[in-house]
Amino acid sequence: MEVIIRPNVEQASELTARLIAARLRSKPDLVLGLATGRTMERVYNRLADTHRNEGLDFSCCRTFNLDEYIGIPPEDEHSYRYYMNHHLFSRINIDLANTHLPEGMAADLHAGAVRYEHLIREAGGIDLQLLGIGEAGHIGFNEPLSALRSRTREKALTPVTRQQNAGMFGGDPDKVPKRALTMGVGTILDSRELLLLATGEAKASILAKAVEGPITAMISASAIQLHPNCKVIVDEQAARELKERDYYDWIFHNEPEWREFRDLTSVSRSP
Ligand code: F6R
Repeated sequence: MEVIIRPNVEQASELTARLIAARLRSKPDLVLGLATGRTMERVYNRLADTHRNEGLDFSCCRTFNLDEYIGIPPEDEHSYRYYMNHHLFSRINIDLANTHLPEGMAADLHAGAVRYEHLIREAGGIDLQLLGIGEAGHIGFNEPLSALRSRTREKALTPVTRQQNAGMFGGDPDKVPKRALTMGVGTILDSRELLLLATGEAKASILAKAVEGPITAMISASAIQLHPNCKVIVDEQAARELKERDYYDWIFHNEPEWREFRDLTSVSRSP
């Protein structure tokens, strides 16, 4: 794992978008795993800018989102399908037929989850999986005690997560669905590369536990320590409780793989 600390949320988001863009340029038919949530909005703004200003081409890209609420139809503004169309897909040249989310409205949720795993396998597996981290320590909606080998399945959301996501439901945690379909921790770990972005003070404590603490099913994000190709991008606020930050900084400033990303005066500038 590598942890890269950027001075602020804009630069952390921009670095994340630049890494995704670099992977897409070197593999135009990239299979890209996506996340939703407030953290990703800046990343999707940057990607849309890069498409518009530099012609970043998504025409052959296929995407798989981590999760979807159960019982919220795709056209509802609270669904993650709506979020993805709004924040990214409608702003780039992706074929919507190549974009996938778990079927939160499937009559048979278990069969829908099995189909999702099958679709990912049929696409050749996920090349790069983008991740956020929840205050409950989740990746996707893998709430505490999610098996580290779990696959796509139905999961009940914790009160912490429903409170965290209440903002998108008029501030009322009771309006946040109680259940979601989510890729499992095992599904996520099968991706060839992981890229986790965490920003803001509210994530500092859980991020330090996930990165520097023991691997535990109580914090599903700690499972990223098992992955041989994982990058964690954080801003100063989210980095606050990390103990080994001097080492992490040294890596970013000295390792050749980061050379092209050290100069962050790129073209994209939307908020
Ligand atoms: C959503 C997802 C979640 C979020 C996490 C952080 O698709 O995978 O794990 O990444 O809950 O959400 P925000 O960015 O809203 O703090």
